[in-house]
Amino acid sequence: MEVIICPNAQRVGEVAAAKAARIAGPIGPKVVLGVATGSSPVQTFAELARLVDAGELDVSEASAFALDEYVGIPEGHPESYHEIIRKTVTEPMHLDPSRVHVPNGFADDLAAACVAYEDAIRAAGGVDIQFLGVGSNGHIGFNEPTSSLSSRTRIKTLAARTREDNARFFDSIEQVPRHCLTQGLGTIMDARNVILVATGSGKAHAIAQVVEGPITAMYPGSVLQLHQHATIVVDADAAAELSLADYYKETYANLPDWQRLDV
Ligand code: F6R
Repeated sequence: MEVIICPNAQRVGEVAAAKAARIAGPIGPKVVLGVATGSSPVQTFAELARLVDAGELDVSEASAFALDEYVGIPEGHPESYHEIIRKTVTEPMHLDPSRVHVPNGFADDLAAACVAYEDAIRAAGGVDIQFLGVGSNGHIGFNEPTSSLSSRTRIKTLAARTREDNARFFDSIEQVPRHCLTQGLGTIMDARNVILVATGSGKAHAIAQVVEGPITAMYPGSVLQLHQHATIVVDADAAAELSLADYYKETYANLPDWQRLDV
């Protein structure tokens, strides 16, 4: 696991985007992106869009797969993840909408929609770069505590804490759906690279558990300790409970030139 501690959220976005661009370059324009919603990756996606517009990143034939979607919210709803991905990823990066996929939380047959989603990821050749945020309870995607570490895309019940955290996007907590479709932890682990971003003190405990705690379904993001190419980019507040923060900083400050991110 590579842990990069940045002074602020803006820098987190720049470093995460630079890391992604470094990986995407050799893959070429057909790179397959795994994309998250929520506030965490917004700066990263904005920076990626800037790199695209500057001609420094070619995603002209890229596909994208969202991590999750609420059940029962129609596609055009402002809080549907279809809509959020359209605004934060598809349009700013000029992706072809037909190659941007979000689980269908409005399907009549939700279980079949989950199987179809796994099939679509496989048919695209798998995810090259998976962007992740982390919930304050340690979830990635909507894999809530006690999720199977080898789970695939499926229906999940949102934890009370997640509904409380996400109530800020709705008029009231009653409007936050109780169910979602989410890529599983096994699905996420199949991505060839993962980049998790987190900012703010509300994520400090989850980040410490994910990075330095035991691998446990109680903090589902901790499964990333088993991933060969996981990068965790956090600001100083989200890093506050990391016991090896000095080591991560020293490591990053002394990277050899060929590993440096030019940001
Ligand atoms: C969103 C997702 C979630 C969020 C997490 C953090 O697609 O999969 O795991 O990344 O809940 O949300 P924010 O970034 O809003 O704090």
